[in-house]
Amino acid sequence: MTLRVAPAAPEDLCDAVAVIHRAFATLAGRIDPPSAALTETAKSLAARFDGGGTVFVARLDGKIVGAVCADPKPDGSIYLDRLAVDPALVGQGIARALVTAVEDFARETGHDRVTLGVRLVLTDNIALFRHLGYAETGRKAHPGFSEPTSMDLEKSV
Ligand SMILES: CC(C)(COP(=O)(O)OP(=O)(O)OC[C@H]1O[C@@H](n2cnc3c(N)ncnc32)[C@H](O)[C@@H]1OP(=O)(O)O)[C@@H](O)C(=O)NCCC(=O)NCCS
Repeated sequence: MTLRVAPAAPEDLCDAVAVIHRAFATLAGRIDPPSAALTETAKSLAARFDGGGTVFVARLDGKIVGAVCADPKPDGSIYLDRLAVDPALVGQGIARALVTAVEDFARETGHDRVTLGVRLVLTDNIALFRHLGYAETGRKAHPGFSEPTSMDLEKSV
């Protein structure tokens, strides 16, 4: 089995959005408000490229099994979101490969760090990102919530 990560071509975006929806559907009932990843479309993914960002897809033996988005921000960072792995294939290093691709993209495009947000209730995801070298920089509340609901993390690259 060969895992390859590369920027998505336009014809990959339907499969990319499908894997994002499958992955984030597993969080239903665990996070409130629901993830906006579920409203992502091939068109909204395509728009990431217009702002200088990219969408990476992971292929296992040619089939798209994971995706992640990377967007440049004015503060010199790359923002990582929509990290998604096919639920049948978790625990095999696909997310690590996708995160590495975003970190390489950040370096290659002259950005000094990768930032992201994780819901506080997703303690397993927080532990995963800490394991990959990310550190907390703050906490935020989603609109309508009085207490923080998400953690900001970043890693220098
Ligand atoms: C979260 C998700 C992306 C993880 O994907 P995955 O392919 O199973 O992750 P990987 O196997 O690549 O794991 C990455 C690394 O984190 C480690 N890790 C995973 N869970 C961990 C945990 N709870 N604590 C510490 N380390 C953990 C793994 O051991 C691996 O490290 P290694 O390469 O040194 O062995 C996947 O489960 C998913 O798509 N979930 C639904 C959507 C989602 O939650 N997206 C992220 C939103 S913040």
